[in-house]
Amino acid sequence: MNFDDLIDRRGTYSTKWDRMEDLYGVSPETGLSMWVADTEFRAPDAVLNQIHALADQGTLGYSTIDGRYREAIQWWMQTRHNWQIDREAIFTATGLVNGVGMCLDTFTAPGDGIVLFTPVYHAFAKVIRAAGRTVVECPLVNNDGRYEMDFAAYDAMMTGSEKMVILCSPHNPGGRVWTQEELQGVADFAKRHDLLLLSDEIHHDLVYAGHKHIPMQNADPSITDRLLMLTAPSKTFNIAGLHTGQVIIPDPGLRARFAARMAALSLAPNSVGQFATAAAYSPEGAEWVDAQVTYLDQNRRIFDAAIAEIPGLSSMKLESTYLAWIDFTDTGMPREEFTNRVEQDAQIAANHGTTFGLGGESFLRFNLGTQRSRIEEACARLSRAFGDLQ
Ligand SMILES: Cc1ncc(COP(=O)(O)O)c(C=O)c1O
Repeated sequence: MNFDDLIDRRGTYSTKWDRMEDLYGVSPETGLSMWVADTEFRAPDAVLNQIHALADQGTLGYSTIDGRYREAIQWWMQTRHNWQIDREAIFTATGLVNGVGMCLDTFTAPGDGIVLFTPVYHAFAKVIRAAGRTVVECPLVNNDGRYEMDFAAYDAMMTGSEKMVILCSPHNPGGRVWTQEELQGVADFAKRHDLLLLSDEIHHDLVYAGHKHIPMQNADPSITDRLLMLTAPSKTFNIAGLHTGQVIIPDPGLRARFAARMAALSLAPNSVGQFATAAAYSPEGAEWVDAQVTYLDQNRRIFDAAIAEIPGLSSMKLESTYLAWIDFTDTGMPREEFTNRVEQDAQIAANHGTTFGLGGESFLRFNLGTQRSRIEEACARLSRAFGDLQ
């Protein structure tokens, strides 16, 4: 478990490194890539050894969903999240954006309104629009650097054409770990407006001390008949390229509809993703995740301290995730200027806040899932790029 070793991912079909130049104008030779949400860490040996064993055995033929895969998922959710799930409730999607797309396709119709609490993970809106559904943006309230929900305002925005609300729990960006009261508020909102509730909990394992993730089904068991849960080992173990995530549907009626749609599209998981998931969701995997969260916590502290030194910049206090959400409002600079300083002067590729929807305009998102030396380098570059504000 060495999170300090640098790994050169350039030229490995890595989205994060091999697309940074055409998307952000930042060269992978001299730049730091801090956008896409995967990390620079080697996956745990438990996972890599399983993939090596599969390669050594040498055949990569058709695979079937193996019992160990489902048992490992059940074990992880029970031991790490105190969440009990039926094995029949587990479906496998080719990643969670695909899971969202499948749920939209199965349970909603073109033109339906899909509620998002913005700013939120940009691919939600992208896939909703691509599916011909309508994005309904309910803006989060930025209360002194902490996102909160305002259900009275959201109630007033509903028109009756909304069919689903998508919750990101924990929230990306900003890293909120929603409390029991907030989750209850979302459940009540979904019931009041007769919405399906899709809870994307992909970041649930990356939670910092002092905060506790509550799976939506546990927060309000009475929501089960309208609940779709999404989880994945991809963020937790840095295996997003394997495109394996879970759609977990506790209600048998919703489950049957989803199963029928999966069958109609003949969707089936790949063997490497299944092997990796089963290996990751293990006691060895748990130990690795705990060490990773401790390492990320220190990255977050170092980065926040450097940001706090730059007048006009402020970071939201992350309760979870390795995705720092930095507000440039108080620099008084137009968006182009602070973005140019980050990209051209500091040579850092960071996600543009505008893509996350209403409320994201004055932000950039920096991925802190990287080696400490790169965090320190990023801090030094940012303080130089904004040095005139000192
Ligand atoms: C909330 C959320 N859901 C889904 C994803 C992506 O999931 P996948 O790579 O499995 O499609 C991300 C990636 O950042 C995310 O933040």
